[in-house]
Amino acid sequence: MSSIVTNSAYVVSAILFILGLKLLSSPATARRGNVISSVGMLIAVVATLLSEQILDWQWILMFGAIGALIGALAARLVAMTSLPEMVAVFNGFGGGASLLVGWAALFDGVSLVSAIAASFSVLIGGLTFSGSAIAYGKLSEVLTSRALVFAGQRYFNAALLAGLLACAALFLMEPSPTSVFLYALVGLALLLGCMAVIPIGGADMPVVISLLNSYSGLAACAAGFTINNNILIVAGALVGAAGIILTNIMCKAMNRSLANVLFSGFGAAKSASKVTGEANPISAADAYLILEAASSVVFVPGYGMAVAQAQHVVRELSDLMEGNSTEVSFAIHPVAGRMPGHMNVLLAEANVPYDQLMEMDDINPRMGSVDVAVVLGANDVVNPAARSDQDSPIYGMPIINVDKAKVVFVLKRSLGSGFSGVDNPLFFGSNTRMLFGDAKESISALVAEFSS
Ligand code: TAP
Repeated sequence: MSSIVTNSAYVVSAILFILGLKLLSSPATARRGNVISSVGMLIAVVATLLSEQILDWQWILMFGAIGALIGALAARLVAMTSLPEMVAVFNGFGGGASLLVGWAALFDGVSLVSAIAASFSVLIGGLTFSGSAIAYGKLSEVLTSRALVFAGQRYFNAALLAGLLACAALFLMEPSPTSVFLYALVGLALLLGCMAVIPIGGADMPVVISLLNSYSGLAACAAGFTINNNILIVAGALVGAAGIILTNIMCKAMNRSLANVLFSGFGAAKSASKVTGEANPISAADAYLILEAASSVVFVPGYGMAVAQAQHVVRELSDLMEGNSTEVSFAIHPVAGRMPGHMNVLLAEANVPYDQLMEMDDINPRMGSVDVAVVLGANDVVNPAARSDQDSPIYGMPIINVDKAKVVFVLKRSLGSGFSGVDNPLFFGSNTRMLFGDAKESISALVAEFSS
């Protein structure tokens, strides 16, 4: 295929990517956006495979088949609850692949431009890979979700950065794929990724995940420059830009600046005031009586809904309540769950109508007139300590003000804390009733009450 045809196909792909991204911005059009972007990627892959640069099909086919098999198995076997970890792994693999592509391209001949681009793809790709591995560990709770800080950490990181720049400069003075400074660059980039993510505390992980997503795009973009592939440059830049926009949204959602999240080791030094009190439990039968009489109910889903897989039964309950003339809505906090859009994905899977979904800023002013707020496995995103306890690691994060509703039901298994490890005074509020148990079982019990 001539390069003009290949590049024309790349232009079509780029247009489809941009169109797809635009459609992804609303839940109503997101599926179409996904399909359109996928078609764009298919065109890009086919055009690349048919281009004159392909020298050997054997390796491509073999590793393409292995990759497809791993991807298909992962998609089938990974539980919905592990999707955030899978996204972290994907980011990491994207970074790792860019590192390898940038490095491998140097074996084809080294110019100063390709060496500069390769340094970028090794640096950003390496730190994305190891940073995502740490993020995976924190999300799967193999590693503690708390911020890990030690004395002199900032000096250590500053020295690390200086070492990286020095290695990059020395490598560029005599660029070669087997340069000892390139090896050092790879090692230090991997170390920097770990060091950048360990001081980030639980509640700040959304920002890190979206930032790593952006880095994976930038690394791909740099790899595109090293191998001189236009669509990799464009696609990488789009992922990088989309990731930065998402990072900005996440920072706003948490009322923090990016610098503050990245450099303050936030959450490590502070410890929230201990919360004590008497929680008031309620049975499903009594909760039903209150819900049955309510004219407005707001569900506030959180990570526990994903764990319990309660989205389908909650849809059933919401239908029954609407049949009972209750106004039902779902309030979505931007960082609820463990990945951006986590709650939207689950509720869309259960076919909850989009017009029932409300954003935090839209529901909060109305919360005072809501009869019942049903907290469905959420914790940090409804923790009033974020408003009042200046010592709390989550102080300043906007929350869904369920405590302002007339009655609050909290559906969870215990009085335990959420991802940030902070106690929640909501559980002891005078208008709060704890419906203890697995969220799916509790909602199913309510459905049974409504149906009997
Ligand atoms: P969390 O604060 O993590 O609380 C989830 C609650 O669900 C837990 O307290 C747990 O209590 C309950 N739970 C677990 N399994 C359950 C089950 N089967 N049935 C009923 N309840 C169950 O969740 P959240 O309010 O959604 O907040 C999200 C947190 O994760 C924030 O701190 C956020 O910053 C962080 N985070 C978010 C993201 C993104 S991008 N969204 C990424 C990384 C981290 P019990 O154990 O008592 O049941």
